[in-house]
Amino acid sequence: IDIKTLRSATGGVTTIDPGFKNTGSCESAITFLDGEKGILRYRGYSIEELAEKADFLEVAYLLIFGELPAQDQLDKFHSDIKEESHVDEDLKKILEAFPKSAHPMGVLSSLTSALTAFNPSSVNVDSEEDMYKAIVKILGKFPVLVAWTMRKRKGQPLNYGSKNLGYVENILKMMFEKPNEDYVQNDILLNALDKLLILHADHEQNCSTSTVRVVGSSHAGLFASLSSGISALWGPLHGGANQAVLEMLEAIKEDGGDTKKFMAKAKDKEDPFRLMGFGHRVYKNFDPRAKIIKVAADEVLGDLGIEDPVLDIAKGLASEALSDDYFVKRKLYPNVDFYSGIIYRSMGIPVEMFTVMFALGRLPGWIAQWKEMRLRKEPIGRPRQIYIGENLRSFKSISDR
Ligand code: ACO
Repeated sequence: IDIKTLRSATGGVTTIDPGFKNTGSCESAITFLDGEKGILRYRGYSIEELAEKADFLEVAYLLIFGELPAQDQLDKFHSDIKEESHVDEDLKKILEAFPKSAHPMGVLSSLTSALTAFNPSSVNVDSEEDMYKAIVKILGKFPVLVAWTMRKRKGQPLNYGSKNLGYVENILKMMFEKPNEDYVQNDILLNALDKLLILHADHEQNCSTSTVRVVGSSHAGLFASLSSGISALWGPLHGGANQAVLEMLEAIKEDGGDTKKFMAKAKDKEDPFRLMGFGHRVYKNFDPRAKIIKVAADEVLGDLGIEDPVLDIAKGLASEALSDDYFVKRKLYPNVDFYSGIIYRSMGIPVEMFTVMFALGRLPGWIAQWKEMRLRKEPIGRPRQIYIGENLRSFKSISDR
């Protein structure tokens, strides 16, 4: 039934659905998710197969254009992105103006929005060709902003990627290159990051993606829409959970490692504490991404020869929750963010950068969803409300109040 028919059939009835728990905002051909069965597919391909066999740029292409690329298509895509992998020098001044203590998500959101000022042609994108230009621009420039945000915090000089490296290789190079030293690629880190980015690449109409679609539906530009998505992702109930998880695991360790004590806090309804990294709006089964990440965490730490007591605490919490009535009844399983921070930390990424890494992975998904929304000519997103405020009142002058 189309929406116009539905509206006239119901006399324009407005439904109230806080948190949009049961409201579909669009039709989409990008990501399939069955939260009851724990299934996730991008464009019909299972997340398990993509994480094992594809690389991140192929997945980005798949999400944005709908099909896996042939080699020549991927090469052209990559070379178009590389052409756009520099940012205006004036953007450095904006970055420099932020205090060192600024949270990287706030910096990234601001810089992404500021990119519009330096690339005004990216705003009015009515044709697929214009869209393509805006898309390769942001795919080229975003990793630069991410790396610079981290380098500025560390007081390191700002740098660029290399024409000879792959997309994810360049992300690592820009983040970890040390001044006056030749950069040497670490394949363990490369494979781990590639997998993490794939697992985060899209997740249908989550909070940040819905934000990107709604902001984009007003025909604000792509970069402004993405900047809003970054802000939405920042919160600890969404992407910010990966930082919150690691801080929670550290706090448990500092407190002596008594996981049961924290489980009890999470179950106490008088206590606002929640077990970060547990529960999901849509998954009422194991988050398939968490399963893959758990194995990856073991592998990466093993390969790097790192023994991290925090991983043991995480495993302990997860196994206790799986046999705890409170968590079982509410179907609260570890989500994608439960183990990702452990891998990021082992890679040498500072904890405040974890959500930025999530944004880097989610970028192609946001772009794909924005593109789909524009190509389908979706109307402006504008929900209704039920008014519960005062009835008509007469104005009282200030001396009579
Ligand atoms: N710890 C303890 N109790 C929890 C948790 C948790 N992590 N998550 C949910 N619950 C409880 C709630 O208190 C509620 O209990 P009640 O029925 O007795 O009132 C019940 O489970 C349902 O929870 P809601 O908050 O209604 O579920 P909702 O779908 O609105 O929220 C959310 C989902 C935000 C992810 C929630 O589970 C949460 O806060 N988790 C911790 C934060 C987190 O890990 N976020 C990352 C999500 S994944 C992502 O965005 C990438």
